[in-house]
Amino acid sequence: MHKDVSEILVGEREIQNKISELGEKITRDYRDKNLLLISVLKGSFIFMADLIRAVGIDLNIDFMIVSSFSGTVSTGVVRIVHDISIPVEGLDLLIVEDILDSGRTLEYITSILKGRGPKSIEICALLDKPSRRMVDIKAKYTGFTVPDEFVVGYGLDYNEKYRNLPYVGVLKPEVYGV
Ligand code: IMP
Ligand code: MG
Repeated sequence: MHKDVSEILVGEREIQNKISELGEKITRDYRDKNLLLISVLKGSFIFMADLIRAVGIDLNIDFMIVSSFSGTVSTGVVRIVHDISIPVEGLDLLIVEDILDSGRTLEYITSILKGRGPKSIEICALLDKPSRRMVDIKAKYTGFTVPDEFVVGYGLDYNEKYRNLPYVGVLKPEVYGV
C-alpha cells in the first residue's frame, strides 16, 4: 500500500467484479439504442477503459475535460476545458465519472449536453459520496458508495498524484494538511 494511503476502500478484484456487473446491465439496457459513452477526464479514464471492455454491444466513446477542483476543495465553478467532438443529437448518452461528490460537475455537464438534443442522458459513476451532495442529481449506475473521506487511486487524484494506484484508498489527512 502507498505510504500516503491509510486504508484501501475498494480493492482491485472488487473493482473488476463491479465493472463486469455494470457492463452487463449497460449491455442489457442499451441493446437497441445508440450508445455514446462520455468520459469526464481525467479522473474517469481508467474506469472508462475497463468499463467499455465489459459492454458487449456496439458503442461510441468521447471525452470531455472539465475543471472544478483544486486540491481537496471543490470550487463550485465548473469550466469546460475540452469539449466532445461527436454531435449528440439522437444519441443515448452515458456520462462516465469517477466520483459523484457535490454533484455540481455532473449537474453542469448534464445541463450543457441536454441542450444539444440527445435522445437520452444518464450517469455512470464508479464512486458515490452521497453525504456531500449539494444538488439533486442521481446516477443510474453506481459502483460503490464511499464515506466522506478524500479518496485516491484508480484514476482519482490529489493534486494530480496517485492516479496510478490500482485500488481506491483513503488519503491520509496529513498529506493535504488537515
Ligand atoms: P463534484 O462536482 O463536487 O461532484 O466533484 C466531482 C469531481 O471532484 C470528481 O470528478 C473528482 O475529480 C473530484 N473529487 C470529488 N471527491 C473526490 C475525492 O474524494 N477524491 C478525488 N477526487 C474527488
Ligand atoms: Mg480530480
